[in-house]
Amino acid sequence: MKFCSASVLPLFFVIINLLHLAIADLESDKQALLDFASSVPHRRSLNWNDTTPICTSWVGVTCSADGTHVLTLRLPGIGLVGSIPSDTLGKLDGLKILSLRSNLLSGIIPSDITSLPSLQYLYLQHNNLSGDVPSSLSPTLVVLNLSFNLLEGKIPKTVQNLTQLTGLNLQNNNLSGSIPDINLPKLKHLNISYNHLNGSIPTFFNTFPNSSFIGNPSLCGSPLKACSIVLSPAPHAPPSPAISQKQSSKKLKMGVIIAIAVGGFFVLFLVVLFVVLCCLKKKEGGDAGTRKGKVSGGGRSEKPKEEFGSGVQEPEKNKLVFFEGCSFNFDLEDLLRASAEVLGKGSYGTAYKAVLEEPTTVVVKRLKEVVVGKREFEQQMDIVGRVGQHPNVMPLRAYYYSKDEKLLVYDYVPGGSLSSLLHGNRGGERTPLDWDSRVKIALATAKGIAHIHAMGGPKFTHGNIKASNVLLIQDVNACVSDFGLTPLMNVPTSRTAGYRAPEVIEARKHTHKSDVYSFGVLLLEMLTGKAPLQSPGRDEMVDLPRWVQSVVREEWTAEVFDVELMRYQNIEEEMVQMLQIAMTCVAKLPDMRPNMDEVVRMIEEIRQSDSENRPSSEENKSKDSNVQTP
Ligand SMILES: *[C@@H]1O[C@H](CO)[C@@H](O)[C@H](O)[C@H]1NC(C)=O
Ligand SMILES: *[C@@H]1O[C@H](CO)[C@@H](O)[C@H](O)[C@H]1NC(C)=O
Ligand SMILES: *[C@@H]1O[C@H](CO)[C@@H](O)[C@H](O)[C@H]1NC(C)=O
Ligand SMILES: *[C@@H]1O[C@H](CO)[C@@H](O)[C@H](O)[C@H]1NC(C)=O
Ligand SMILES: *[C@@H]1O[C@H](CO)[C@@H](O)[C@H](O)[C@H]1NC(C)=O
Ligand SMILES: *[C@@H]1O[C@H](CO)[C@@H](O)[C@H](O)[C@H]1NC(C)=O
Ligand SMILES: *[C@@H]1O[C@H](CO)[C@@H](O)[C@H](O)[C@H]1NC(C)=O
Ligand SMILES: *[C@@H]1O[C@H](CO)[C@@H](O)[C@H](O)[C@H]1NC(C)=O
Repeated sequence: MKFCSASVLPLFFVIINLLHLAIADLESDKQALLDFASSVPHRRSLNWNDTTPICTSWVGVTCSADGTHVLTLRLPGIGLVGSIPSDTLGKLDGLKILSLRSNLLSGIIPSDITSLPSLQYLYLQHNNLSGDVPSSLSPTLVVLNLSFNLLEGKIPKTVQNLTQLTGLNLQNNNLSGSIPDINLPKLKHLNISYNHLNGSIPTFFNTFPNSSFIGNPSLCGSPLKACSIVLSPAPHAPPSPAISQKQSSKKLKMGVIIAIAVGGFFVLFLVVLFVVLCCLKKKEGGDAGTRKGKVSGGGRSEKPKEEFGSGVQEPEKNKLVFFEGCSFNFDLEDLLRASAEVLGKGSYGTAYKAVLEEPTTVVVKRLKEVVVGKREFEQQMDIVGRVGQHPNVMPLRAYYYSKDEKLLVYDYVPGGSLSSLLHGNRGGERTPLDWDSRVKIALATAKGIAHIHAMGGPKFTHGNIKASNVLLIQDVNACVSDFGLTPLMNVPTSRTAGYRAPEVIEARKHTHKSDVYSFGVLLLEMLTGKAPLQSPGRDEMVDLPRWVQSVVREEWTAEVFDVELMRYQNIEEEMVQMLQIAMTCVAKLPDMRPNMDEVVRMIEEIRQSDSENRPSSEENKSKDSNVQTP
């Protein structure tokens, strides 16, 4: 009996205590609601009477199943007037749904409401609320609807924290500034139209329709009109004598003015050039051996011949340096004038798509955080230019180096990147990338990297292998871009996380073997359909190799593989072989990883056994053809 009472009594007290807490909870919720009702006039009666039970008879209120707290509060169109007092609704700790839409509420939105710990649905649309969108937002939010108010200021960056968000409505307010560069994996419905937002639309938002953005006259970039490229804030270049020199050389259609002004100072560099020697020479069937036409400084148009063929290292200012084999015929001024749209902000800077004259479209990368001097930069560019001569490597066509601007010019590839093929167009009617295509892309990418390693020498690495740097060209062929830049840059490591080998993370040691590791992660990405960079800037990064290892250790299970691959027949064996290749590539110790040539051979072996075992693989061809036009 003693034993019994000893154990039963405390339990009894615990229950009493819990009960007491629950009652206290509901009591405080009730008080909060009464405080709200008494300070916010409303045209229709709420019938919130102190003496009636809150959970069953109060208008607009429902409680949790155990009756311990208020779960939802819906008061749409009740005629609430005035501002929402803080310290009232903000005390409803357990509240999941709050709707005060279509009232006459004004004033600011108290941040204790938007940060309620359990809040999932917040509807405040169609009021007269003003002030900023509160930056403290509950990470549990699923729908945030603040449309049709008078809110101003910027869209807070903390929206990035809302990983559960599926709907974001901010249309018809007075918001300004640029759209934060965020990535919300679950977002399905977005509307930020009719505000005063400006700048370019970040890549993540490109997949939403243009009606999500309309009514913001200063907003640009896909899916709206292209942004004009603003490489430097130089709206008014002072007139200069060199302009007339340009006119005189116009008969050759090669005159060039480079005007660059940077960092608040408008510096005008005028450069006249007779360039693109390679192109000219080629057309006239001249000496094909002379290369590296250059744009030179200071109006020396009279003696063009002497400008060519000299080494890249020659200390001249402000030239657009073209590489061997280029057939481009433009200059920096043309670039600056071209209609351009932002393709994306990568780890090295912003990439623009620039449409010059009709057939010529190029990609211009504007490098940020270059930490080396001109000479070192040029030497590295020399190798990059030399290495880029391979069908699976994206060649660098030209570069520009000045103190304030570093630009790289590449071909434009309309097929998009592997990243967009694998992960793009969420919720839309996307064509999944089939297995055949994935293998071909993997092989092409491996060949490209192997070539870079072979041509660049033991110290030269790609250094930035990731799905967004694998670009698709015709016939499901692919090429790798953005290589050889790592030694020049001080890249914020968060941007490249996920693909980096352990030794790169620990000691920033880039080797051929660290490229192999990154390529292994890329293979895992193609196999699993999971991005190694799920939400940049957050802690819960998926470490793809570790995740795959943990699943595989359990058993060779189909769970690893991308669900989109499950509808194709007879590919399990190949997928398992590819998985094994990937796993050897992501070995922890660099010495345990194969080199790139071996990787190429291993992937080719999969394909060979494929053509023996699966003569019917042509059947898939009809499906393939969709894939090439994403
Ligand atoms: C609350 O209800 C009681 C009984 O129904 C009624 O006498 C009282 O006037 C009501 N109070 C308010 C403020 O409506
Ligand atoms: C709400 O704002 C509109 C536009 O500023 C104004 O016409 C209207 O009178 C306001 N309503 C209230 C209740 O403040
Ligand atoms: C929300 O995001 C900001 C930066 O955008 C960060 O500083 C803050 O810690 C985040 N808060 C939560 C609760 O995750
Ligand atoms: C947000 O409010 C607007 C305007 O009433 C409505 O059209 C839209 O469907 C709402 N969005 C969500 C996700 O409820
Ligand atoms: C919108 O904000 C701007 C300032 O950013 C202000 O000049 C303008 O009056 C506001 N418009 C409305 C309708 O409140
Ligand atoms: C966007 O507008 C803000 C003021 O609302 C301004 O400070 C900023 O420079 C503008 N940005 C661009 C890219 O136009
Ligand atoms: C939006 O897209 C549709 C079709 O995609 C097009 O017809 C329309 O002109 C576009 N509107 C704007 C403002 O770009
Ligand atoms: C966004 O809101 C505007 C204005 O209310 C509307 O015209 C547009 O169709 C909406 N777009 C989407 C994608 O809901």
